[in-house]
Amino acid sequence: MPTATLSPKLRVAVLFGGRSGEHEVSLMSARSVIAALDPAKYEVFPVGITHDGNWFVGENVLEKLEQGKTDSLDHAAIFPEPGYQGLYAIRNTQYVKLTDLDVLFPVLHGTFGEDGTMQGLFELADVAYVGAGVVGSAVGMDKGIFKDVMRANGIPVADWAMFRRSEIERDMNEVIRKAEALGDYPLFAKPANLGSSVGISKCNNRSDLGEGIMEAASFDRRVLIERGVVNAREIEVSVLGNDEPLASVCGEVLPSREFYSYESKYVDGTSGLMIPAQIPEETSIQIRELAVRAYKTIDCAGMARADFFLEKESGRVILNELNTLPGFTSISMYPKLWNATGVSYPELVDRLIQLALDRKTERDHTTREFRRSQ
Ligand SMILES: Nc1ncnc2c1ncn2[C@@H]1O[C@H](COP(=O)(O)OP(=O)(O)O)[C@@H](O)[C@H]1O
Ligand SMILES: [Mg+2]
Repeated sequence: MPTATLSPKLRVAVLFGGRSGEHEVSLMSARSVIAALDPAKYEVFPVGITHDGNWFVGENVLEKLEQGKTDSLDHAAIFPEPGYQGLYAIRNTQYVKLTDLDVLFPVLHGTFGEDGTMQGLFELADVAYVGAGVVGSAVGMDKGIFKDVMRANGIPVADWAMFRRSEIERDMNEVIRKAEALGDYPLFAKPANLGSSVGISKCNNRSDLGEGIMEAASFDRRVLIERGVVNAREIEVSVLGNDEPLASVCGEVLPSREFYSYESKYVDGTSGLMIPAQIPEETSIQIRELAVRAYKTIDCAGMARADFFLEKESGRVILNELNTLPGFTSISMYPKLWNATGVSYPELVDRLIQLALDRKTERDHTTREFRRSQ
């Protein structure tokens, strides 16, 4: 009897850590992703990126990154040249090819991971990768541009104003005057390009606002002041897909602190999740439709989590943001919402990898050169 030929396993590099304030969150997410990748289907190559931006491979790279002990590891690289595809280790200043790669799975939240920079490298390298492309990532990450694009497409967002650090340094009083013109306190001051609530302040009066602006400006050269949405619930929905994305059931975040701050998200771990959210059916439909529209508007791919405010009195729905690489531990909102919708965590990871391959196939059908005939 002929022996069955085993189909080759997909070689997946999982990238984690990174240069953002969400480094530690990324390590937690990556641990769950790696555990869920079926060894019968995938050969997994973990790649750790340090706070300084150095790439490492080697035994127990995740644990070693967690402990900050990278001495025994090899530096790693992928090249932006399609002719040098694959994962390389750097040993004694020589590049040693470890493997070809079928898919890159960036489990990197925030700056230099979720903002299009890493995605640019992957595009140049011409390898399939999980999640949104360059534009979707960059627009999803930039709270100011994101809102401009949403408003232009009729998707409701909270009123905001954008300031540059140079303006803030030149005339803080003028910045405060313009910010206060948005409406009554509370106002929120945010760096344009961060995540995990880092650098975000809820400002209840003018003195808070001054401090909040300085804090946000220390994290980014552009600062957003937003009108506070008061007396609102925070509803989130997971989106999955490329051109025909699907939305999960809605979930509600129940922040343990005054707002959903970094501490309440990750430090005290006491923010509760209510899945599915106890909201009227028509509100749920509206939120899911808005999530898919926002997703398509910025040309997302793979996945995103859409976060909304639901005003308690008016029932009005306001989009807060789209996270193109949402928290991905097994107890994070993104996978839990899919679980409640009937897609288990391992199935979700399978689908994301398939979506990455589909997108690459589609890209390969795109004409990239136009040569004029002689
Ligand atoms: N305009 C707003 N009105 C009310 N609460 C807000 C507003 N903006 C942010 N928040 C609160 O701050 C949290 C973090 O803000 P968000 O813009 O989602 O930043 P991040 O990208 O860091 O998650 C939100 O989950 C919410 O609790
Ligand atoms: Mg948020």
